[in-house]
Amino acid sequence: MMTRISPLELRRVFGKFATGVTVVTYRADGVPRGATVNSFTSVSLDPPLALVSLSRRAKACENLHGRQFAINILTVDQRNLALHFAGVPQPSVRNPFIEADAGDEPPVLQGCLAYIVCDPWAVHDAGDHKLFIGEVVGLSEVQPDAEQRPLGFFGGQFCRVESGERIWAANNELIAAMQQSLSFSW
Ligand SMILES: Cc1cc2nc3c(=O)[nH]c(=O)nc-3n(C[C@H](O)[C@H](O)[C@H](O)COP(=O)(O)O)c2cc1C
Repeated sequence: MMTRISPLELRRVFGKFATGVTVVTYRADGVPRGATVNSFTSVSLDPPLALVSLSRRAKACENLHGRQFAINILTVDQRNLALHFAGVPQPSVRNPFIEADAGDEPPVLQGCLAYIVCDPWAVHDAGDHKLFIGEVVGLSEVQPDAEQRPLGFFGGQFCRVESGERIWAANNELIAAMQQSLSFSW
């Protein structure tokens, strides 16, 4: 069936949804690898599940089947890593992994906001992408005390995520709304 939705328009409108930026890291043939991904979504608390959507053209899409992977949440200072793992090698990125040689576990990136380690849980076909759902088996806030800001992505561009008085003032009501709709305490 012909669709009237133009892919360019679709991409532009999807891009109106602001996200953070992550790098999905894994080990293939013992070599640490990564792919920049903004499709990361939290899925379930019980069991703990997270999702990334990968293009069938991405090497990560073939490599992630049956493999542990880590979702590394980037800081605003890590734009070079986002580009590097999006197929634009950055000379400034030399040894981005913490303990790159450590065993079978997925490698994780130095200096990111946090990382989430997942066991493979399910893979679903989704058009020109595949949805990889992982069961969370490890978590770490790499710099829990530091005032690190996330790297944002909006309208096809990297952006800063700012906080302001008005946003903070709304937070109490937001927490009440979340508690009501999700029926768990934050
Ligand atoms: C900000 C940003 C977000 C991206 N998000 C995704 C994504 O969610 N899924 C995806 O398949 N590719 C995404 N890409 C493109 C991949 O990073 C790119 O295709 C990369 O080369 C894949 O690496 P690989 O082929 O080594 O797996 C994104 C790129 C950028 C710059």
